[in-house]
Amino acid sequence: MDYKSAKFKPTDKMGDLINHDYKLLLVMSRFGLSLGFGDKTVEQVCRENGVDAPTFLAVANFIHEGNNLMEANLSQISIPQLMNYLKQAHSYFLDFCLPAIRQKLLAAIDCSIHNEIAFLILRFFDEYATEVRRHMEYEDMNVFTYVAALLDDQRESNYSISVFARRHNQIELKLTELKNIILKYYPEQGNNHLLNAVLFDIFSCEEDLSSHCKIEDFLFVPVVRQLEKKKGII
Ligand SMILES: [Fe+2]
Ligand SMILES: [Fe+2]
Repeated sequence: MDYKSAKFKPTDKMGDLINHDYKLLLVMSRFGLSLGFGDKTVEQVCRENGVDAPTFLAVANFIHEGNNLMEANLSQISIPQLMNYLKQAHSYFLDFCLPAIRQKLLAAIDCSIHNEIAFLILRFFDEYATEVRRHMEYEDMNVFTYVAALLDDQRESNYSISVFARRHNQIELKLTELKNIILKYYPEQGNNHLLNAVLFDIFSCEEDLSSHCKIEDFLFVPVVRQLEKKKGII
């Protein structure tokens, strides 16, 4: 991997990475890396935990700097590890992040029977969570299964990563809408610390979902396309 123009390199200390961009804490845990790394470098922490450092750094640099990956670097990415990272992110959104936001919303808004806007907010959120689940389950069950079979040289259907790339949609847009409903229409009643806290969570979830989708579009799809080429499919 060519790290000349990359922000984070294998010889950087893991602690420096996190101090530089705390969002990388999420990346670490999705790769199965835990805290307590002392002064070790990225390379050391990854090696000790069986994580492919180029793949970890590709995601970390992508999240920090956006899409500036060289085509040549894509071939160094471990597809099974990237896929596992994406799966872990799905379970983080579905099993932790969205339920936690719902709980905070319930605590922050007045759900008494006369409060129509509160009812609307919750219904909107639940519909949104269902949509995200459908999106991620499709990826888990169809896309990742297809890629796992491809890695195993067992291609059963006519599916290809281009089918996924064409229908892949952004999922954070509806969350932006929800945030705007709260911002514009929720009648303020007294103390708004709780409501602000849940809005902060929605802002960060929105950002996290958006970068998740970009990793799928700009890292995952191109590496799978390379694999398809190698296997003579396209
Ligand atoms: Fe996804
Ligand atoms: Fe997606």
